[in-house]
Amino acid sequence: MSLARHVLRSYRATPNTLSTISRLPINHFSTTRPNRLQTTDKKNRIPEKEVPVTDYDAGHSSAHKHTVHVFQDGATPHTNIPPAWQEQESVNPLTRDVYEQMPHTMRSMSMFGKTVIITGGARGLGNHMARACAEAGAKNIVIFDANQELGDEAAAELHDKTGLPISFYRVDVRDAAAITASVEACVEKYGVPDVLINSAGIADSNIKAETYDVAMFRRLIDINLTGSFLMSQAVGRAMIAARKPGSIILVASMSGSIVNYPQEQSCYNASKAGVIQLGKSLAAEWAKNDIRVNCISPGYMDTALNRVPALEAQKKIWKSLTPQNRLGNVDDLNGLCVFLGSDASKFMTGANLIIDGGYTCY
Ligand SMILES: NC(=O)c1ccc[n+]([C@@H]2O[C@H](COP(=O)([O-])OP(=O)(O)OC[C@H]3O[C@@H](n4cnc5c(N)ncnc54)[C@H](O)[C@@H]3O)[C@@H](O)[C@H]2O)c1
Repeated sequence: MSLARHVLRSYRATPNTLSTISRLPINHFSTTRPNRLQTTDKKNRIPEKEVPVTDYDAGHSSAHKHTVHVFQDGATPHTNIPPAWQEQESVNPLTRDVYEQMPHTMRSMSMFGKTVIITGGARGLGNHMARACAEAGAKNIVIFDANQELGDEAAAELHDKTGLPISFYRVDVRDAAAITASVEACVEKYGVPDVLINSAGIADSNIKAETYDVAMFRRLIDINLTGSFLMSQAVGRAMIAARKPGSIILVASMSGSIVNYPQEQSCYNASKAGVIQLGKSLAAEWAKNDIRVNCISPGYMDTALNRVPALEAQKKIWKSLTPQNRLGNVDDLNGLCVFLGSDASKFMTGANLIIDGGYTCY
């Protein structure tokens, strides 16, 4: 555990913070460097009382010049309180008319006309990313999920809300033959997909390594890691055969880069580290085929995966270790997913993008 994380954890867990800090080795808190910087900063600072501003307002051809008052303690009063998050019920697909009126930059950030396959799209993060793809202009959306009931419901709901062609394939991402047949059927119906989003995954936590059941360990690796590979292989193969550029988005986790606290979950962490390295390897191999592969690595998200009574107490600790002091909302990956699926990210491949409310800062 890094010293910073140890201090923070002690700070948050122990009311007697000062005594905790005073027990730490004194040389970790050397003040030489900050003091020198502060002195230099004071000498070089030219304090402004007013900042001159030139505004060109809509509907006015001439400039409006004015000044902004500078608060000498560096603080400006905050009056804008961000609105509370509300789950969006409606899904409004991007229409051709609106797309054609959009400026170039906004068009490049859309998924207009693209066909998307999304695994784990029956619920949770995958389901919300599917909705976001529809709002960003996707032409067809295909959900692959192992859960028949949820998959049927999700496909019907997305079709009702958008009017778009939506398909659901009941596929277990461990089943290579079912994946191959289903991807071939999608290609037949909708053409070669432009985007694959791999969100299917499971989590086991609070299992100590010394007592981890081997069958459970193998099952999780099979779903999270091998499943991501099998889906990428089948869709990548179709893209390569058709010489079609594409974007593959793997949902990994911050657990692929850090070790979560306080719960033991060695297998999940290893599976997600594997997904990140799989993503980089595929990105390097398939760059010549114009196929990009990137990972989204979420922090703790408020989804059914985490809505289990056994985790309630731990959630308080997770929040306290997250600078934003909250779990991610179920739609907090949407913007990043659309960006990675769109042409706005066309020079990005092999990246692992952590989206965690700041958890990995500490
Ligand atoms: N929720 C979090 O805090 C969090 C954090 C980091 C990463 N993630 C990752 O994000 C992804 C989605 O998580 P979520 O919170 O939306 O989970 P979720 O449990 O709400 O949804 C996962 C979906 O995957 C499907 N699925 C599970 N096993 C499958 C299989 N073998 N084959 C096909 N489909 C299968 C489920 O039926 C479900 O619809 C997972 O890969 C997860 O590891 C989640």
